[in-house]
Amino acid sequence: MKIALGSDHAGFKLKNLLVEKLQHDGHEVLDLGTYSLDPVDYPDFGEAVGKAVAAGEADFGVACCGTGIGISIAANKVKGVRAAVVHDVTSAMLAREHNNANVICLGARLLGESVAIDALDAFMAADFEGGRHEQRIAKLTALDEA
Ligand code: RB5
Repeated sequence: MKIALGSDHAGFKLKNLLVEKLQHDGHEVLDLGTYSLDPVDYPDFGEAVGKAVAAGEADFGVACCGTGIGISIAANKVKGVRAAVVHDVTSAMLAREHNNANVICLGARLLGESVAIDALDAFMAADFEGGRHEQRIAKLTALDEA
């Protein structure tokens, strides 16, 4: 798969770790920055990841900041994006199965590296269940025009 990744300075190290992990696993990676520990603004990178996914340039997005919250808010402003802050394997799996999330957001200051890697693996392995969740996703899509 092709995965777009982005982070602010707080998520920089985790993002780089996940870039390496995904490349090792054979995925194509689009690293949208940031590229150093210099302070930057998370909306710029949430927007970049969201736009890459919405444009079909990536199958999924991975966005990291200190909490995962700010960058998820930014990514969710992009039409077609369903970005989910996840904290563990269960929330990562359910973000795909129930919410059909297309961007996973991780809090580098809150999660250990192993938890973040396991959550990403769970997110990538899970599929949207459809069924009763379809109409809810349709309502989320309708909110893009609200
Ligand atoms: C940066 O200090 C921090 O505010 C940011 O990484 C993120 O946690 C915001 O939601």
